[in-house]
Amino acid sequence: MTSEIPAEILSKLTEHAQEHLANGWELLSQSDQKQFEEQIQSVAFSQINDLFSQKTGLNSTNEQDSDRINSEEATAPAEIIRFNDQEPDNQQHLNAKQLGQQAIKSGQVGAVLVAGGQGTRLGFPYAKGMFEIGPISGKSLFQIFVEQLLALSLKYDCSIPYFIMTSDANHEETVGFFEKNDYFGYRSDRIFFFKQGVMPAVDAKTGKLLLADPGKLALSPDGHGGLLNAIEDAGLLQVINDFGVEYLFYHQVDNPTAILCDPLLLGYHIQHQSEMTTKVVAKRSPDEKMGVVCDYHGETRIIEYSDMSEDVARKKDHSGEIMHWAGNMAIHVLNVKFITKLLTDHFGLPVHIAHKKVPYWDHSTQVHVEPEEPNAYKFEKFIFDALPFASKALVVEADRVAEFNPVKNASGNDSPEKVKQAISQLHQKWLESSGIEVAKNVIVEISPLFALSSEDVEAKKDLDREIKIDTYFEESSR
Ligand code: UD1
Repeated sequence: MTSEIPAEILSKLTEHAQEHLANGWELLSQSDQKQFEEQIQSVAFSQINDLFSQKTGLNSTNEQDSDRINSEEATAPAEIIRFNDQEPDNQQHLNAKQLGQQAIKSGQVGAVLVAGGQGTRLGFPYAKGMFEIGPISGKSLFQIFVEQLLALSLKYDCSIPYFIMTSDANHEETVGFFEKNDYFGYRSDRIFFFKQGVMPAVDAKTGKLLLADPGKLALSPDGHGGLLNAIEDAGLLQVINDFGVEYLFYHQVDNPTAILCDPLLLGYHIQHQSEMTTKVVAKRSPDEKMGVVCDYHGETRIIEYSDMSEDVARKKDHSGEIMHWAGNMAIHVLNVKFITKLLTDHFGLPVHIAHKKVPYWDHSTQVHVEPEEPNAYKFEKFIFDALPFASKALVVEADRVAEFNPVKNASGNDSPEKVKQAISQLHQKWLESSGIEVAKNVIVEISPLFALSSEDVEAKKDLDREIKIDTYFEESSR
């Protein structure tokens, strides 16, 4: 027996001009009605309607919209600490590194991976972290990250909890992959999976919420800015505090050469009493799809590439250099106290609005529609919008070749082929800095469990002086 739509739900829908969602209610099964009711109850209709009005130029009261940032008023970041010019004996770097190592050793550091995205550009139909990127080993992105943490926790005899954010689309698959692979040797009680929230999509012409199916809203992940609420909702703040973690190293799923819990980065973050620190690399060109770190009226901000016009991206400074060169490599350190403060003050990150193709169920014609052009607005929050809220934010510049090799596209720049080459070239450099010669066209790969850096390679005394064939350095070859 199905029932009529509850009066309370109908009046909520009517109040927000979304009563079309009530059409066909009585055709749903009782359990579908229940689920639909829960979905409807969870939607912040006023916010959605307000965002739509804002996007379409109607009245809006939302002061936090990213669209209100005028990127023409942004300039290059005021102060940057450069890691890429580091001399091995630079005392400042050495001091910072030591401070970072100390924080890791004493268990004050945890790591967060945002892996809730849908990875559509790469055309890989599974959770992106499952993508195999090791040039010889074929190790997945997930395995490379976990092995880095494993190596660090062995090196410093400490525990580093790893918090992995997934979404509805890839949660089961991600957890299953870790289980099947025995957590890649990491302790399973130090890996925490949690799902990010969702936001509904609306029709771009009318602002009406779209249905994915009868009785099911078209929902999509709420962006990596959903991290803060998702951590809280999953009860992980408590876990983070129980571990004694004070600093969270944040990274995203696509870059296998990210240095997890980089001691140098952590050290500078601590030394400068920063609440949020971000690493940048020089953009390849003004049109590279990277957000840029900039100074906006005295605040450090990241402006996403989609929020910056081509003209602004190409703007030059007084010395003729590209002003917005500082590409966001999506590596941050956030103080746990800062996150707690943001959550306690119920502060909201601004919502970014994207015009996208969203398949939907058309109740009037009773068909599923696959749009050929963008038909809907989707809403997302970005974690880097927390930067201007930090009482102190720090920007550091890393060596792009060594640290920024994301897998994004199926071919061309940032493709698996290019990234595998980059990993091999980087590891070749590590070997060469220890005086080991690698023959031309030979592929090398170093497991994180073998070495995390060129210094680790240098510390190994009994390595062959010449590498003539493709070689994978793994733990057992220690
Ligand atoms: C991202 C950055 C860009 C940066 C570039 C560097 C954003 C919005 N843009 O661009 O500024 O220069 O990386 O490589 O971050 N994710 C979630 N949940 C979501 C959406 C995304 O967890 O709802 C995760 C993805 O799994 C991925 C990361 O966030 O790990 C980045 O997402 P993606 O949409 O691929 O951003 P890019 O366009 O690559």
